[in-house]
Amino acid sequence: MIKNYDVVIIGAGGAGLRAAVEIPKEYSCAVLSKVFPPRSHTGTAQGGVCAALANEEEDSWENHAFDTVKGSDYLGDQDSIETMCKDAIRAIIELEHMGLPFSRTPEGKIAQRKFGGHTKPADPNDPYGKRVPVNRACYSADRTGHVMLQTLFENCIKNQVDFYSEYFVTDIILEGKVCKGVVAFNIATGEVTMFHAKAVMFATGGYGRVFRITSNAHVGTGDGTGLIYKNGLPLEDMEFFQFHPTGLWKLGILVSEAARGEGGILKNKDGERFMQRYAPTVMDLAPRDMVSRAIISEIREGRGILGSDGTHYVNLDVSHLGKKVIDEKLPEITGFARTYLGVEPTKEPIPIQPTAHYAMGGIPTDVDCRVLADEKGTVVQGLYAAGECACVSVHGGNRLGTNSLLDIVVFGRRGGKAIVDFLKTAEFSEITSSPEEKTKQKIKNVLANTGNEKVYALRTELQEWMMDKCGIFRNEADLKSMIAKLGELKERFKNISVQDKGLAFNTDLMEAIELENLLFNAEATVYSALNRNESRGAHTREDFPARDDVNWMNHTFIFKNDEGDPKITKKPVVVTKYKPMERKY
Ligand code: FUM
Repeated sequence: MIKNYDVVIIGAGGAGLRAAVEIPKEYSCAVLSKVFPPRSHTGTAQGGVCAALANEEEDSWENHAFDTVKGSDYLGDQDSIETMCKDAIRAIIELEHMGLPFSRTPEGKIAQRKFGGHTKPADPNDPYGKRVPVNRACYSADRTGHVMLQTLFENCIKNQVDFYSEYFVTDIILEGKVCKGVVAFNIATGEVTMFHAKAVMFATGGYGRVFRITSNAHVGTGDGTGLIYKNGLPLEDMEFFQFHPTGLWKLGILVSEAARGEGGILKNKDGERFMQRYAPTVMDLAPRDMVSRAIISEIREGRGILGSDGTHYVNLDVSHLGKKVIDEKLPEITGFARTYLGVEPTKEPIPIQPTAHYAMGGIPTDVDCRVLADEKGTVVQGLYAAGECACVSVHGGNRLGTNSLLDIVVFGRRGGKAIVDFLKTAEFSEITSSPEEKTKQKIKNVLANTGNEKVYALRTELQEWMMDKCGIFRNEADLKSMIAKLGELKERFKNISVQDKGLAFNTDLMEAIELENLLFNAEATVYSALNRNESRGAHTREDFPARDDVNWMNHTFIFKNDEGDPKITKKPVVVTKYKPMERKY
């Protein structure tokens, strides 16, 4: 089956929906999603979306931009960061006007709370001197992503966007450096459809499911980044993967940083507020890379708490905040603690451990979300990317909390606008290959395979190994052993068989294709991590513990070469006015 659309957007999270809202009704627009749109992973974002509204205290977009650059460990492109932080204020007001129910101050303004790495100068005359936490995260209790997703979905419905829910994209139609559409199968029926389009946007989210402990929903299998890489286009800065400090122990479910923004404290087995040793000025509100490393260091040095299953955790204590604050501002996460760990947060601390949370790297784009074919800036005609799957490089080596919900609304809109500009003159390009047949054959092959390998077993092995060898701390020997493991897993993947041989709701089949995508993402991550001989942001090399600005103020571009092997090139970081300095908090 063939369907023609002016624009096809893959992914119904915040970035995809915000882009769709921007497409006027005169153009046809389809949004394809593996799940029913309001079940997209954006819905799990909790603590807030930041903008220097200055509703609660003095602030400026320049403060926000400086924090984002510093938080990125100077790897973020400063022109993109300035674009995002300047636009943040407008973006929040726009969301409010679309109907997003923000929490309010007593005077009725949008309420704002503190979040890690968001600061302002302690002395306004010394902007780059000592800084103190600032209220910058606009929030809706601890369900900010959920309400954002609902609001954007409602606005898409108003805009008469066509939704294809439970459609799984299996291929991108790329001829030369021109994107002509995608191929997807309907999960309900197995029917394969070619979506012929003038413009395609990838808003497919992250790939946290490559790790064993993750805050990512089951959908987070890096299908967009996997397809881009498989098709010979580059991925950027894949070595930078964020571990959120506070995942529920053993499960990885997110316990929002809002808990610390509201005054929650991290404690080790001696009840010590250990962050005072790692980040004496902002303590528990240091950026995530630092807090996650601090937690693992506490555990490695014997100050973690031993759990019943032999693993270690530390405590997040919010009990002193009182029931009223907890019930009004942190209902969701405290509910998770009760439900999944049987802990009562008003009375006892919540056991937590770092959890794989967010990919800073992804599909390289310019500030208008146009996908780049190389480090020189060649644009792939008709192809756009936004949100977690993209790398416009506003997060660099480490993303600040609440900058992701901002990224998706700012760049989702910019991508939508760029597509509309493109559509003014764009025509449908003829498709000369048979991409539909390729997908049909792929499905047939997976269903016909009688090998003795099982998808869930390979996936679990991949996740365990990635966690151990390419997690918060890395070194050459571990990364090389991970590369060898990936080679083995890829070989074994050829021998997978699925039990369900039907076409209706065949989740076995879907998981097999997702596993292939996870393997591509893992490969790009591990090779990029091995290549970067320094420590910066979330990429900590035990064998290269220092940041090296002389050799590594570069982005990594990783491609598959003609033989299918990874090849790496570099692109210089854009520096406007923030010269790299030592990153202390
Ligand atoms: O901690 C949180 O609420 C997560 C926010 C984010 O990742 O931006």
